[in-house]
Amino acid sequence: MPTESHAGPLRVLVLGAALRAGSTNLRLASLVARLIDDTGATADLAPLHEFDMPLYNGDVEEAHGLPPGALALRDRLKNSDAFVIASPEYNASVPGVLKNAIDWVSRVRPQPFKTKHALLVSASPSMAGGNRGLWVLRVPLEHLGTRVYPDMFSLAKSHEGFTENGDLVDPGLQTRLSETVRGFLGLVEADIRYGCLQRRWYEFLGDRTGAPVTQRAED
Ligand code: FNR
Repeated sequence: MPTESHAGPLRVLVLGAALRAGSTNLRLASLVARLIDDTGATADLAPLHEFDMPLYNGDVEEAHGLPPGALALRDRLKNSDAFVIASPEYNASVPGVLKNAIDWVSRVRPQPFKTKHALLVSASPSMAGGNRGLWVLRVPLEHLGTRVYPDMFSLAKSHEGFTENGDLVDPGLQTRLSETVRGFLGLVEADIRYGCLQRRWYEFLGDRTGAPVTQRAED
């Protein structure tokens, strides 16, 4: 099922996926949110610390259901046509807090990631800008049916990458980020208005056994 068509501007959740107050990824998320607003779409900036949740535990889920932080993130996702994640790279991979949040939210039915488009960006003081972590982040999101935009943006040397007003110091990079955001929004708009990307979601491709444990196809 394509993302639901609606009147009015596109709504995009922008998640800053680090907990610390001085997070460079939150700064990058703020900039992306501003670039989104500049196009006439509506950005919903969401620092990850707004969604407090324990480590995933199946017993806790069975006894208490989903924690309020996971449900709040689900609600913000549900109210969006698309989302952006600005994530650090930890040990060449996805930070545990972000993966934990994805795991909790993936337990909600209907599973909210499968109708969404996503753009991934990162910031890191290293020369690779955290890009390896974004490749890892694609895996759970694509597994959940999210259409992850092919282009990604990674800001290297992030500790010296921002001006005081939150733009990127390098104007060429600022242009590239702005063009990436606009290209992403163009695809989301086309999908929402014209339903150009329609597909079903399967946990195990080609698995048609019908066994309730493995057959998790949803319209
Ligand atoms: C890091 N950092 C890091 N950076 C990187 O480019 N590649 C990496 O593999 C790692 N690994 C790593 C592991 C752990 C546990 C920490 C705490 C940090 C450095 C990281 O990019 C840096 O701290 C960023 O500033 C984190 O992003 P925020 O908090 O500024 O958004």
